[in-house]
Order: sequence, then C-alpha cells, then structure tokens
Amino acid sequence: KKKLFIDADTGVDDAQAIMVALAAPDVEILGITCCYGNTPLENVLTNTLRVLKACNRLDIPVYRGCSGPLLANRRHAGDYHGKDGMGDAPDPDAPGLELLQKKRGIPAMVKIINQNPGEVTLVATAPLTNLAVAVQLDPSLPKKLKALYIMGGNTDSRGNTTVCGEFNFVADPEAAHIVLDRYTCPTYIAPWEFSCRNSLPWSFCENWLSQNTEKAAFMRKITSLSMKKAQSADYQKEITEGKGFNSCDSYAMAAAIDDTFITESEEVAVTVELVGKYTRGMMVLDYMELLNKKHKAVIMQNVDLERFKQMFMNSLK
Ligand code: BDR
Repeated sequence: KKKLFIDADTGVDDAQAIMVALAAPDVEILGITCCYGNTPLENVLTNTLRVLKACNRLDIPVYRGCSGPLLANRRHAGDYHGKDGMGDAPDPDAPGLELLQKKRGIPAMVKIINQNPGEVTLVATAPLTNLAVAVQLDPSLPKKLKALYIMGGNTDSRGNTTVCGEFNFVADPEAAHIVLDRYTCPTYIAPWEFSCRNSLPWSFCENWLSQNTEKAAFMRKITSLSMKKAQSADYQKEITEGKGFNSCDSYAMAAAIDDTFITESEEVAVTVELVGKYTRGMMVLDYMELLNKKHKAVIMQNVDLERFKQMFMNSLK
C-alpha cells in the first residue's frame, strides 16, 4: 500500500482531497497534521474530524499543528470556504476535539516519517508552516521521504489572493521558501493555473453530487457556498483559464495517489519571492538556472481529466 501523510488546512477542497485519498485502493493514510490556513486552526481541527466521520474513518490520527505563519500576518480564506472553512453549514453532531491525538503534530509527523524511511509520500495542501518547522526539527527529514506533493504557488504573475500571489504561498512565504529550499526529495507542485486549466465541468459536478449516498449529501452541504462563489463574477477575475469547479488540493492528492495522473509537466528549480511590495509570496521559476539550485521540482501542467472524474465519483460512493 502507498503510505500517505497529509498536512491540511481543511477547507472545502482539502476535504475533497482527503475523501479522494480515503476512497483510493492501495492507499494507507498514516496521519493528518492540521495547519491554520483557509480558516483558524480550531476550525481546521473540527473540519478534519468531520470529514473523517463522514467517511467512517475516525481511526486515522489527526494532530494539531501550527496556528499561524512564521513571520507573515495571519490570513484566512473565509470568503470562499466560509467562516468555518467548510461552507458555513455547521454540523451539530460534529466530533469533539477530544478525538485529536494528544501528541503534538509536528514531532508526530517527523516520527512517523522516520519510522517508515523512504516510504512516506507527504501531501501538503495548506500553507507550508508545519513542513518548515518539521525540517528545522529534523533536517534529515526530506531524505527519508519518498516524495512531496504540494498544492501552492502560481506560474504567472496573476495571483488568487494578492495581485501576484497564490493563497498557500502568500499565507506563509518564509515557510514556502524554507520548504522549497530544504526538501530535496522528489517534489511535485500543483500550482494555481494548473488547477484552473484542469477544472471540473459544472455538468460533471452535478452528477458527482447527485449520487444517492451520505457522503454525497455531506459534500453537497459543505461545497454549496464555494460553488456559488466559484460562479460569481469576482471569482472569475482569479481564474486564469478554464471554466468549472477547481478543487485545487485534490490535484496534488490525485497525483500523489496515481503516478499516471499527470500527463504533462516540466522540471524547474523554484523558490518564492520574500520582499516584493506586490510580489511577496509569488513563486519564482528559475528557467535560466541563474540561482544555481541543484534541486528541481516537477511543475504539473495537465492531467488525465477522465481519471480525475473517476476518482471524484468514487470518493462519494
Ligand atoms: C489554495 O488555497 C486554499 O484556499 C485552497 O484550499 C488551496 O489549498 C488555492 O490557492
């Protein structure tokens, strides 16, 4: 079985990504660390437990991670994900935080990766704060990973959060910088434009959510706000290309699960702008190799959309 460890700021698309992973055959989720991001950490913890409960998988350990960025001002994405991070459709029976692991998240992540050297694929769908702290705690951590999959960054100058920046990188540019510098394991990045380009047609989404299952009812409830937002004129300003529902985090997850999912990609050394007035948090791609970085990341460009649809359908069965 493929061993995944997930770092999430459970939000709507994180929830979708986690459900895609839960439904995948031959995948074992070793744990989930939570990070502030789409919504404050306390909501992220509850949301993650809600997703696991909806899938009857509360056996998967959930850990508390960082509640704010290393240096940046804290920001959230309540406009899109809802104030509670999951569509402001509260569940009175949401699992309580007593179900969380008592151990602190980042040391637990480090320990689990160390116990399975070369076997763990780390999937990061949040600001990269937890991963940055983890590598400070154990500088040899990247060598012990099988691979790292990140949803974050943008490949052109149009952001979705600041003028030029994508949410996960803008939320903690220093953390993104540390991670892109220090994680020298095979690294795959699902940037913003890539997810726009490969968005799911609305007609497909209707079929996906119309499945007659409890999981589909849960998904419909938590997704309806963000779907409305995604069809609004304001959101269209963020979209670089493609039309449809953009479950950004699920692309990183699908790629981590299925090696054949990515049909086009390029390898390039990447870093993050830390100081620009307008460009802080923007991903920098070093095509001319002027930065002399040995480590290159795989930047995803296109996917097998039919495969993606299949994974999405299965996630609600
Ligand atoms: C990223 O930011 C968040 O809003 C999403 O969950 C995704 O991880 C997209 O920029």
